[in-house]
Amino acid sequence: MELPKIHSITKKLLVALVGAFLLLFLLFHMTANLFILRHDDGAWYSAFCHFMGTNWVVKVFEIVLLGVVALHILLTLWLVVTNRLARPVRYHQPQRSKTHTTSKLMAWTGALIFAFLVMHFCQFWFVKVGVVKGEYMVEMEKLQTEEVVTIMQYSRQNGMEIADVASAVENQLAMYADQLAPEQVAEMEANMQSLKNSVPVAEFVDKAISENHFSADHKWIRHISYEDRQMLKEKAPRCGVEPDFYYEARELFHNGIMVLLYLAAFVVLFMHLRHAFPSAFQTLGLNNYKYNTAIEVLGSIYTWIICLGFAVVPILVYLGL
Ligand code: HEM
Repeated sequence: MELPKIHSITKKLLVALVGAFLLLFLLFHMTANLFILRHDDGAWYSAFCHFMGTNWVVKVFEIVLLGVVALHILLTLWLVVTNRLARPVRYHQPQRSKTHTTSKLMAWTGALIFAFLVMHFCQFWFVKVGVVKGEYMVEMEKLQTEEVVTIMQYSRQNGMEIADVASAVENQLAMYADQLAPEQVAEMEANMQSLKNSVPVAEFVDKAISENHFSADHKWIRHISYEDRQMLKEKAPRCGVEPDFYYEARELFHNGIMVLLYLAAFVVLFMHLRHAFPSAFQTLGLNNYKYNTAIEVLGSIYTWIICLGFAVVPILVYLGL
């Protein structure tokens, strides 16, 4: 089998560069996750996720990040395959060198991290892109359009179901329709259409109020189902329904098996990063015998901070702290 020829060192350099980018991402991701531990009913974490989900710079970054993750996996696979092709006949004596064992370990830990990412994306990121159903939230302020408020007031004042408001208003207006100019009738019909469109939204807001589905600061309506999300996306497209990642993460880590799976993933991540950090420096030529110890120590500190920082979230949430 022939693979396109790129010098092995170029591939290693690319792996190191994208790896370095991922090392920075992990630091950022771990730090942001610590907001989940705040007992503020998700005010900080939801604000953070809202920023991440709406800012266009972040959106571009996200595409770059996913591309980089894919590139990192493809390049490492490519390195493994080309190395194997370069030596189709295995060594007679099994290699026992330290480098060989570590790079073999890197392939295995890399594969396990990939498996973790598949699970992780199904729990979070796929919810955001709408491939997997989850729990959602929306800013109350964005739903309180003039139509929604009118419908709710009308139903309260007249003691009727919200679902019946649009037809009641329509009947009333029909009585005056023959006294109006054609352009006024056209305007009235357009208003009616927008009112009808807002009826399910008004019903949704009314239910959220009566069942008190609010965050502590009353900014967000929480516990929105996938079906309601679809309805809001269609009837109130500008309101921007978002996944409720604070709630989802907390729910997830009430499950002991999930906590264990995540902790196991962090142990594997620890093993992967422990080697990845100094290796990236070495490939990029940033190491030097004078700084090797410093790089080792820095790598060790980085890896411990990342893995412990990730691990405290499931542990403390599970313990209810
Ligand atoms: C306690 C552990 C973790 C929690 C609670 C957590 C939570 C989340 C959440 C809520 C998202 C979606 C954020 C958004 O798109 O706005 C996300 C995305 C992501 N996570 Fe994690 N995560 C954890 C650990 C990890 C680890 C260990 C890795 C890597 C090995 C990782 C890699 C990613 C990636 C690549 C994305 C998609 C990129 C993005 O949109 O930010 N996560 N995570």
